[in-house]
Formats: sequence, C-alpha cells, structure tokens
Amino acid sequence: MLSKYLRETMASRHKKIEQHPLQNELASGSISKERYAKYLQGLLSFHQEFEAALNEHADEAPLKGIIDPDYFMIERLEKDLGELGAAGRPAASGTNGLHHEKVENPLELLGILYVILGSKHGGKYMSKVLADKMGNGYHHYYLDPFDTKLGALWSKFVAEIDALPLSDEERDTVLKGSISAYDAFTQSSDFAMAS
Ligand code: HEM
Repeated sequence: MLSKYLRETMASRHKKIEQHPLQNELASGSISKERYAKYLQGLLSFHQEFEAALNEHADEAPLKGIIDPDYFMIERLEKDLGELGAAGRPAASGTNGLHHEKVENPLELLGILYVILGSKHGGKYMSKVLADKMGNGYHHYYLDPFDTKLGALWSKFVAEIDALPLSDEERDTVLKGSISAYDAFTQSSDFAMAS
C-alpha cells in the first residue's frame, strides 16, 4: 500500500524534522511571532509554486478525483501572517534564498500533498499550544486547517491513494515528491532559525 510505503520509507525523515529546533519551538509555544512569521513566509513561497502546479495538473491522473479545494493553503497562510503582523511584507519567493524547484509531475505533486496533509497531525497539536501561549485564542489556520475534520479527511485521502494502481516506478515518483516536500519544510525551518 502506498501510504504504508511512504510512512515507512520516510519515518527517519519524520523523526528528524520532529526534532528540528524550529519545530520544537512551535510545539512548546516558545516561538517568537517574528520567527513564526518567517517560517510561514518560507512555506508561503513553497505553497505558491506547489498550488500553481496542482491547479495546472488537477485534472490529470492520479490527481483527478483526489484534489479537494480544502487542500489549498495560501489563504490560510496569509490570514495567519496577517494575525502575526507580517502582512504586506514582500512575498518570500525570491527574497529569502529559498529555492523550490518547480514540480510538474502529477505523481510527485501527490507525494508533496501527502506530506502537507500529514503534517497537520503535528500541526493540530501545535495550534492548540500556540493559541494558549500566544494569548487571544487565535486559531492557527495553516497548522490546523481542518480542525475536527482532520481524522476523517486523512482517512479518506489515505484510502484514495492506497486504491491507486501504481507500478513500482510510479510509487517511487510519488516518494520523490514526498522527499522534496520534507526538504521544503526543513529549508523553511532552517531559514526561520537563521536569525
Ligand atoms: C514537532 C513536530 C511534529 C510532531 C510532534 C508530529 C507528530 C505527528 C503525529 C503524532 C503524526 C500522526 C501519526 C499517526 O497517527 O499515524 C504525524 C504524522 C505525519 N507527520 Fe508529523 N509531526 C511533526 C512535524 C511534522 C512536519 C514538519 C512534517 C512535514 C514535513 C510532518 C509530516 C507528517 C506526515 C507526512 C505524517 C503522516 C504519515 C506519517 O506518519 O509519516 N510532521 N506527525
């Protein structure tokens, strides 16, 4: 099954990013607003590239029938950046030294989406901690976009990707996309810590 393959193949990557200092600051709620905003700005440039490609290829296999409008994150990122007082800054792309290679292969795009949706498990927890620690009870939309719907949405997504009849080669193309997404999260985490 594709989901099991991705989870097992990337378990060491997940462990590593969970231990990243930036992720620790998010999970403990000790992060400054400036650093949190920097992290989200790095991710905004990644999502801008990714979502443009996803829109272009949404009607192609294996994305057709799987992509849901709810999977798009840019508006949530912008809302959170506004709350953090970081709205109106130049888009991170091109100004922050982060380079996200444009991905056009629908299988790779699916692999990226897997990591983005999967990351909401940890994000849901972080969102709660941040709502408490940062005061005002603000709901952190990027980290926890689906709220109580996460479990059902994730199960549905996993069932859909597990039902895809993929060759080993195609499966490894999905994995390639997932790895590039881990790299993007790592880069944005490094970028936010480097100040
Ligand atoms: C402190 C940081 C993090 C914590 C505590 C955390 C925790 C978790 C937890 C509890 C799950 C659910 C496992 C399950 O029920 O099957 C999960 C899944 C997942 N997380 Fe994270 N996470 C963190 C950061 C991240 C980041 C930054 C990414 C993105 C690169 C990520 C990607 C994923 C993915 C893809 C899954 C689903 C598949 C899997 O288990 O590998 N996580 N995470």
